[in-house]
Amino acid sequence: MNLAHTTYSGGDTSLFESISNDIVEKGYSIRPYALPEDLTCLLLQHIIELPTDKFKRAGIGRAKGHMINDFIRTDEISWITHNNPASCAWIKWTESLQAYLNRRLFLGLFSFESHFAHYAKGDFYKRHKDAFKGEGNRVLSVVVYLNQQWSADDGGELVIYDKKSRISTVVDNSQIKVIPSFGTIVIFLSEEFPHEVLPAKRDRYSIAGWFRLNNSIANNIDPPS
Ligand code: OGA
Ligand code: MN
Repeated sequence: MNLAHTTYSGGDTSLFESISNDIVEKGYSIRPYALPEDLTCLLLQHIIELPTDKFKRAGIGRAKGHMINDFIRTDEISWITHNNPASCAWIKWTESLQAYLNRRLFLGLFSFESHFAHYAKGDFYKRHKDAFKGEGNRVLSVVVYLNQQWSADDGGELVIYDKKSRISTVVDNSQIKVIPSFGTIVIFLSEEFPHEVLPAKRDRYSIAGWFRLNNSIANNIDPPS
């Protein structure tokens, strides 16, 4: 099946609606096993077949401020482009989500960037935010997980810190732990939620992406491609 030509617009409407309601209510959405299964399989297949030299140590900060920091994060990443059918299908799915969220929430999401991430045994990403007020054009963070049969003993949970949270998935009234299971989708407002990845005890595969605002000013087109 050629998923690159699938729009998902019909099939995912109720998922997109749930995500959008979650964001309005809480600022984040956690949807276990929600990514279409055929798409999740395609992405997993792609990521495990990616040659290791396509992955690079992830840094922190952008452009000139970019640096590798072993104390903050140790994962490896590979930026996603339209160079294979799995990535095309993923980008297409995020475009449908973007269109839906712009229609329902008037978020003004303009572009999307994402990367595959591989956490080997022992890898982590310490508490951080994906965007900072004032600086930010990253509005919404999206993470999906590609790990089959992930058990509680495998570590690698995503911890989201939410000061305001009152719901039952909360462990100690401020931490929400997400098991990085196959097809689970996590979406949150990039400036609002500090989060971290606990050390993984086995190979952990995910995609992290960000919807951004249009920061074009004068003749500077953003993104600059
Ligand atoms: C990130 C990130 C979370 C995860 O890449 O910025 O927070 O669970 N990833 O992989
Ligand atoms: Mn992050």
